[in-house]
Amino acid sequence: MRNVSIALLGCGTVGKGVIDLLAMNGPLIEEQLKTKITIKWVLIRDLQKYESMDLPEPIMLTTNFDDIINDDDVEIVVEVMGSADFAKECIEECFKRKKSVVSANKDLIADYGIPLLKLSQEHNADFQFEASVAGGIPIVRPMYSSLNSNIIEEIIGIMNGTTNYILSNMTEKGMSYEDALEEAKEKGYAEADPTNDVSGYDAARKIAILATLGFHSAVTFNDVTVEGIENITQEDIRHATEMGYVIKLLAIARQDDDGISLNVHPSFIRKGHPLANVGGAYNAVFVRGNCVGDVMMYGQGAGSLPTASAVVSDVMNVILHFNINITGQREFVWHEVKLKNQSSI
Ligand code: NDP
Ligand code: HSE
Repeated sequence: MRNVSIALLGCGTVGKGVIDLLAMNGPLIEEQLKTKITIKWVLIRDLQKYESMDLPEPIMLTTNFDDIINDDDVEIVVEVMGSADFAKECIEECFKRKKSVVSANKDLIADYGIPLLKLSQEHNADFQFEASVAGGIPIVRPMYSSLNSNIIEEIIGIMNGTTNYILSNMTEKGMSYEDALEEAKEKGYAEADPTNDVSGYDAARKIAILATLGFHSAVTFNDVTVEGIENITQEDIRHATEMGYVIKLLAIARQDDDGISLNVHPSFIRKGHPLANVGGAYNAVFVRGNCVGDVMMYGQGAGSLPTASAVVSDVMNVILHFNINITGQREFVWHEVKLKNQSSI
């Protein structure tokens, strides 16, 4: 069986999720790809901090990116560190060495997605970033593939798990803003600096990524008008409840003949509306295309395994591209059908 060695840059909530997912679902993935995915390197900053982590063989920890970039075995690099500058340097270097990259880093993609895509193409490398918007929900790839026969008119969604977790817990459990934020941090939903979540910047980056892909226009984070949830009080929540509404942080992108509008702000949503029922760290994204009409996608927008689900699927897609290049076609593997005993109707 073919083996593909990969390296992880970062081993936090998402990086650990990738390791766990490959351990859990490795056999199924190998069967489908006819390829074994081996994590060879994990880049971290402080060896001592990760020494006690029980990592499967043959993973090697390193604090030196050169170990990874100079290793010709490594074909795919998974960037799950966060922040922009160092991550960008690493990714550029990967493309120059013809290594493909999967990233979950919306800060980076929102600012440098297009130049990085161009660079990857120049060097015949692949660049995938499904996890950069709405964690485990498949929305990035549909935006540039399954929906791209449409003129996209509108994208509306709850795209930040942390703020949705805070607002849902303030509404449903009467929890304070501070306690709910603390819980969101403990559960691995919040960014290393949660200011990006609560200020609406994280959602603004995500809507900029989706609008760029959906509207075929290079919009940036700076084009989004942003208001966060820092000033939402229990009193606001109480008023909303009394009037039959809930408060949600919405990201909204619209396009018509006059141009594009991009906004992130807390919004009143009438109870009973599908978005009003999106609780916890869940996300939901509505897309309106001129032919397909409304499409809604819902699921876990943050967290270790849900986000790893998107990251590993991206890795698998890169490998499928490799394999198609070798065999000229995608080979499907089907299991023998094992029907359960069913009572006759
Ligand atoms: P964490 O903070 O949990 O983990 C980041 C990891 O990267 C840590 O291991 C950290 O090491 C390491 N790291 C950071 N900077 C460097 C560096 N300069 N050199 C080497 N290692 C470094 O973040 P998450 O796992 O939560 O997020 C990772 C990325 O995924 C971010 O871009 C985030 O926005 C994105 N994302 C996160 C989701 C989530 O639910 N958490 C969902 C979707 C996307 P150290 O321990 O030393 O800090
Ligand atoms: N901090 C982000 C959130 C992680 O809460 O949605 C997923 O992008």
